[in-house]
Parts: sequence; C-alpha cells; structure tokens
Amino acid sequence: ATEYPFHGANQSGVLTPAPAEKQASAAFVAFDLLSGSKTDLIALLHTLTDRARFLTAGGTPPNLGVGRPPSDSEVLGPSVPADGLTVTVSFGASLFDRVGLAARKPKKLTPMKIFPDDAPEAAWMHGDLLIQLCANNPDTVHHALRDLTRHTRGAMQLRWKMHGYNPPPRPSGAGRNLLGFKDGTANPVGGEAGGLVWVDDPAEPAWARGGSYQVVRLIRMLVEFWDRVSINEQEKMFGRRRDSGAPLDGNAETDNPNYAADPKGAVIPLTAHIRKANPRTPATDNQRLVRRSYNYDLGVDANGELQAGHVFVCYQEDVRRQFETVQQRLAGEPLVDYVQPFGGGYFFVLPGVRDQADWYASGLF
Ligand code: HEM
Repeated sequence: ATEYPFHGANQSGVLTPAPAEKQASAAFVAFDLLSGSKTDLIALLHTLTDRARFLTAGGTPPNLGVGRPPSDSEVLGPSVPADGLTVTVSFGASLFDRVGLAARKPKKLTPMKIFPDDAPEAAWMHGDLLIQLCANNPDTVHHALRDLTRHTRGAMQLRWKMHGYNPPPRPSGAGRNLLGFKDGTANPVGGEAGGLVWVDDPAEPAWARGGSYQVVRLIRMLVEFWDRVSINEQEKMFGRRRDSGAPLDGNAETDNPNYAADPKGAVIPLTAHIRKANPRTPATDNQRLVRRSYNYDLGVDANGELQAGHVFVCYQEDVRRQFETVQQRLAGEPLVDYVQPFGGGYFFVLPGVRDQADWYASGLF
C-alpha cells in the first residue's frame, strides 16, 4: 500500500512522482464558497484538513451507532485504504476577494487568462477552491470526494469536476497522452523541480511561501481528425518520435534535443511543440515549469465524436514568467488545429500542513 506524506513544508501531489502505475486516477474539482465570512472559511479549512489527514493515511471510520447515517460511504469497504491518495488544496483569486482578503492574495494570482486559440466554456472555468485528488484507483478518488463534499456541505458547492486517468508506461518511459505521444519526458526533476515550483519570493506575502501556482487547462483533443494525419506530420508537430519519444535529432527518449546544431529547424521544425515550449537557451531556462497532466474521456459529444482530451496541469513559482510566457510562445503552433482548450483555471497551491496541530492556510489569517 502506498502512502504519501500529509504533513510537511509543501503539499503532496505537486512533485509527487508523475502519474503512471501509481496515482493513475485523479479528479480536479472546483468549488465556490457559499459564504463571504472569514470565520466560516477558517472552519471549512479545519474540516478539510481533518478529512484529508484521515483519508490520506487510511483507517477504520468510527461506528456512529444504530439509527444514524453511517460515518463513511463504505465505497472502499469497511476499512479505508490510503491507496496512494493525495489531496492537494488550492485557492482561486476569487476566494480572496469573496472573504475580504484581497490584500493577502499571492502577488501573481489572477483569474485564468483567455489565450488566442482558446474556446472558453464558462461552466468549466475558474473556482474559489480547487481540490486535486490523485490515487492508485478511481474508486479511491471517488470515495475521497464523497467524504470531502459530505463534510463540507453548506460551506462550499461544486462548480466543475474533471476526472483524469493515466496509463502505465507503454512500453517504457513516460505514459502516453491520447494523441499517442509520450508525455512528461522532459520534466524537470529533483532539486531543480523544487527550485522552479515552490514560492520563495520575498515580495510574496509570508504565508504563501512553500506554496505554488497551479495552472489547470482542460484541453479537448480532436482525436478523429488527428488519426487522419501522417506519422511524419504528427512527429514534426511535437518534435519527437511517436514510437520511442526520442527528439527527432536523437535516438532515445531521454536524449536532449540540440537546437543549436539545427538553427533553421531542418530536423526539429522551429514551430515544433517542444522547441516552442522550451527553446533550451540560458535566457529561457527560468521559464521552465513542472507538468503533471492526465487524460480524460467524457464519452460522446452531440456530433457523435469522442469527447476526450488532456487535463494539462502545471506548477510554477511565477505564473507570468513560466506558464504565461510558454503559452504565449505556443500560440498558433501547428498543434492548435487538433486541440481546443475550453476550461480550467489558475489556482494557488497552499503551503503544506506542517504537523498535527496545523491546518490549511493557517498563516493567511
Ligand atoms: C512537452 C504534448 C500542451 C508545455 C510536450 C511533449 C508532448 C506534449 C507530447 C513532449 C514530451 C515531453 O517532454 O513531455 C502536449 C499536448 C498538449 C500540450 C498534447 C495539449 C493538448 C501544453 C501546454 C504547455 C505545454 C498548454 C504550456 C503552456 C510543454 C513543455 C514541454 C512539453 C514545457 C517540455 C518541452 C521540453 O522541455 O523539451 N508536450 N502538450 N504543453 N509541453 Fe506540451
């Protein structure tokens, strides 16, 4: 049984190893507060902390006795397994405005911007809070969400929810997205990743240190259309091979592309996704971000086409310097004909709950 730490300087679920065999299931759930009272928010955060602390450790729920609704849904049986669950709580910009804490908002937290290739759908966007649930199995994610909503009814209400899933490595390396390409290969790892995601800027409010800016983009994939494109053309759009995930100038998935040796884009086109996303120059090094994306599958749309895509999730210490700069550079890339961002939001991942006595965002109040 896997268990990730609940207590610490940072929340789990950000630099927790990328979803593959472990944490193959996820839900991204946005909520709105039902009250503008700070006291109500503090009570809500205490409840969320207590429930997340229990759910991520697992255990046997108490028996409340005959004649009362049971304390647990028992969707996971009489004893709740940890099952690799992480609960990651983030705030949207609107939360700070709603409870009169605008002056304490993390400096770069704004509502998600609309970019040139977006097809925004209001029902799938923004939110006062985002709860990211990741676990080894989908029933664990469902159970955790049931538990959290049940204990917080009256304090917050569901706004939108997107589930996510990820396959095991096939045959090795990073898992594949629904366009058939390995996804997550070139992510920063270890101390380098920590340096790129955790907020430690002295200009930020002190309570926000150890938090991170989270961007969630719900991106529809036009998979039927994509499947009619030649492999050669697909590979040029990404700049990597579909079979191995290797950059087009390399042999292995982990080989680094050498753009300096290919200034005109003869091998890896200048418009390729990986080249635009990360030009690998000293000047763009601090624009790198950590991605932790999932696939989604919502069935069939009104035209009889598959409704599937990508829950793009990334973390950074500065949403303007990292995500927005990269996103602006990707505007108009060839891939935009095959994908449609329609939802998501910008959120601020709260610093970690330090110990048994601490609670989410305690430093904010
Ligand atoms: C790399 C797919 C959207 C940023 C990649 C790779 C794939 C991919 C296949 C190469 C393998 C890897 O290193 O992970 C997609 C798809 C998207 C999407 C299918 C939309 C449906 C985005 C967005 C951003 C982004 C919205 C950020 C604004 C990056 C970055 C890299 C990357 C930074 C690594 C580049 C490198 O360091 O070589 N993506 N991506 N991607 N993508 Fe995306």
